[in-house]
Amino acid sequence: MSDTSPLRVWYVAGQRLCNFDCPYCVSVGDWSKSRRTNWKTPQDLEDFRTIVRWIGTRPHEVSVRLGSLGEPFASPDFLEEAGWLTRRSNVKFVELLSNASLLERRLPRMADSANLGKLSLWLTYHDGEIDLDRFFRNARVAQDDFGCFTVVNVLLFPDNGALVESFVERAREYGLRYNVDLGYDPELPSDSLEAPAPEHAVPILGTTDVLRRVEHLGGDTELTKVALTALRAPRGLPCSAGHDHIFIGIDGEVYPCSRYHVLEHQRIGNVLDPDFQLERRERRWSPCAAEHSCCNKEDFLNLSSARRLRPDDVPSLGWTDA
Ligand SMILES: C[S@@+](CC[C@H](N)C(=O)[O-])C[C@H]1O[C@@H](n2cnc3c(N)ncnc32)[C@H](O)[C@@H]1O
Ligand code: SF4
Ligand code: SF4
Repeated sequence: MSDTSPLRVWYVAGQRLCNFDCPYCVSVGDWSKSRRTNWKTPQDLEDFRTIVRWIGTRPHEVSVRLGSLGEPFASPDFLEEAGWLTRRSNVKFVELLSNASLLERRLPRMADSANLGKLSLWLTYHDGEIDLDRFFRNARVAQDDFGCFTVVNVLLFPDNGALVESFVERAREYGLRYNVDLGYDPELPSDSLEAPAPEHAVPILGTTDVLRRVEHLGGDTELTKVALTALRAPRGLPCSAGHDHIFIGIDGEVYPCSRYHVLEHQRIGNVLDPDFQLERRERRWSPCAAEHSCCNKEDFLNLSSARRLRPDDVPSLGWTDA
């Protein structure tokens, strides 16, 4: 396909340091966060820089969700590269995922060298780790004082409905875009090819009618419907991952989406390979080959059925205008 058409890139970098200790954190195993180390080895930092440079020098427009295993605002190295990306003319926006605790301190420093107008923040509230009002105040600082596109997010588990309800109420009071994500069980092996058990992967599915619950809590039910389909049975559904979207793992491995990365299906190559050339699929829609467990929004929003949920002009790979 033409090398000039826009591309969405979801890259999860090997930055690990985090100042929080959420018991349900998805960063486990080889992809675990750390209380002490930012980069497992100096090479990890070098690889991160190489991959960011590759993204920032594409000959076409890229929209980037720059994820990490830990807390990006705990890492000056990470922020320096993210800031560099915001200044690249080919980069439409850079989206970071954060717990919001360090924004007030770090954003003023970042403002000296980054284009914060191109910075998008996906801020998740972690109960017990930060005061709710401090979380919202920091989000407002990012939005109002630094002009970042800001979304506040909360995770829905079987036992935290009341918390999610008050979160949504406060987000409205603070005038912030909010999102309700389904929390999942990070310990469940996701590379299984056996029959799906979505209520194990996403605990709330086993306890309640999740659509009614999300509706009651003011979340986006259309988004939840797509999420449930992708989780339970995406196989055969038309999806554009691999055409206008790629996933890059901490090791530089490139796949159409993160689920294919887990399944090692349709590997595209490795950015760290000096001979790497990105070959994208010509056809826009291709039937999904995964049996189940497409559980990340960055991925399943590439389904044709989700197309209308994520407008092209929104600077986020996760925001669906709930
Ligand atoms: C590992 S975190 C790293 C970024 C940052 N520390 C944070 O928490 O936002 C990446 C994303 O995973 C999400 N996450 C963490 N644990 C989760 C879980 N059990 N279920 C669903 N999402 C989860 C976070 O909300 C965040 O959006
Ligand atoms: S803040 Fe993010 S990376 Fe840190 S423990 Fe919580 S979910 Fe994990
Ligand atoms: S539906 Fe999910 S698993 Fe299937 S190709 Fe699309 S993003 Fe990948």
